[in-house]
Parts: sequence; C-alpha cells; structure tokens
Amino acid sequence: MNNSNRLRIAIQKGGRLSKDCQDLLKQLGVKLNLREQRLIAHSTNMPIDVLRVRDDDIPGLVMDGVCDLGIVGENVLVEVQAERERQGVPSEVNKLSKLDFGYCRLALAWPQELGARDKSWFEGKRIATTYPEILTQWLKREGINASTVMLTGSVEVAPRAGLSDAICDLVSTGATLEANGLIQGETILESNACLIQNKDLQDADKLALINKLMPRLRGVRQAKE
Ligand code: PRP
Ligand code: ZN
Ligand code: MG
Repeated sequence: MNNSNRLRIAIQKGGRLSKDCQDLLKQLGVKLNLREQRLIAHSTNMPIDVLRVRDDDIPGLVMDGVCDLGIVGENVLVEVQAERERQGVPSEVNKLSKLDFGYCRLALAWPQELGARDKSWFEGKRIATTYPEILTQWLKREGINASTVMLTGSVEVAPRAGLSDAICDLVSTGATLEANGLIQGETILESNACLIQNKDLQDADKLALINKLMPRLRGVRQAKE
C-alpha cells in the first residue's frame, strides 16, 4: 500500500503517452518539476507525487496499491488484467475516465512479400507479440491454432530475424510496419489511454483531491471536443 500522504500517480516515463500525460497534468493545474531525470517528481503546488515508470508496470502498481492513480493504455491494462486473472492475483481497478490520447490498434501483420492473407493462414504459424494474453484469447475465440512468441520490444523485426512468421503489435501511424515491410491485417483490440484508480483507496484527503481534479479533467476533455 502507498502509505505516503501524497497522492501517487504513475505515468509512462518514455514513450507514446509520456508527453500527453505531462500536458494533461499541467492542464489539471498540477505543477511539476520534470526536468530532472528522476523516478519521482513532487508537485510544488499539490500533495501529489508523479512516478515515471515503464507503461507495462503501471496497471500492477495501481492494482497493488503502490500508486493510487495511473495513466495507461487500455492495451496494457487488458493484458496485465488477463495475466493476473490467470495467476489468481488481484486484477481489479476503478476506471475513472477514458482519455483523449494514445489511440492505437493491436493488429496482426505479416511480411509484405506474402501479399494478402486471411485469418486461416495463421493456422500453425508463430506470432511474435508483447501481448500474449490478448492474442491467445483472440486465437482461441477464432479457433486458430497458432503459437505466440513473447517479445518485450522490437516485435516488428521478428519475422525478418526468423523468430516468427507474423506479428501482433500496436499500430498508431503505421510507420513502424511500413519501415519494416509488414502489411497490417485484422485489428484485435482498439485502445485509448485511460485513468485508473486503486479500488481500495480510502484515504479521505486523497479522495477529496481526486474529486477536485475530476471536474477539471471533464473540463479539459470538453474543451477538446
Ligand atoms: C508501439 C509499437 C510500435 C509503435 C507503432 O510501441 O510497438 O513500436 O508503437 O507506432 P506507429 O504505428 O506510429 O509506428 P509503443 O511506443 O506504444 O510501446 P513500447 O515502447 O512499450 O513498445
Ligand atoms: Zn511497453
Ligand atoms: Mg514499441
């Protein structure tokens, strides 16, 4: 549990969501000194600490109560939730809000030289991914027998490196697939960033602070529409 009396928010340290997360905190009026390359940044005007970590670690930190809030992609949240459910460890969070950034799709892709392929082609194939739980569930639903190759990064080079036949990875602009000579196929999950809260949070001061920030968040979201 986070025993600190300061509200602890986990955000991605470096990656697609970092800049938008920092901008959002700023729009909510949270003043931070993020210049130094520190794990924790203390707000100078509110009892808030921002933890900058790998996106994959954010759901677990919030589920375990190490952090009170987290900003994370639904893709990572769904993957960690499925993994924890399988392991029988706590996997619930309160989803406070969907956010208006970080849109991406988790999609299948394969080498361009193979041309158009349908789902049945994946039968017996090896698919590299950072999202083995989501992919395995999808394959099961579709009745496809394929194996997954878990890679935490550089998934897009797996076919060329002979590690897999295809990949299942996040696509935002599509530039990564194109640069690696891959064709995008079926989308298996669509994702946005979202704000999550530890479901056992009871500290009255922290809850009051969250209640103060939520209308501001709604205001920021409405202003964007
Ligand atoms: C994803 C994915 C690709 C990239 C695709 O990584 O793994 O590398 O984004 O984006 P594009 O279609 O705009 O080229 P991401 O930065 O989300 O996560 P990671 O750093 O945790 O792999
Ligand atoms: Zn990641
Ligand atoms: Mg990546």
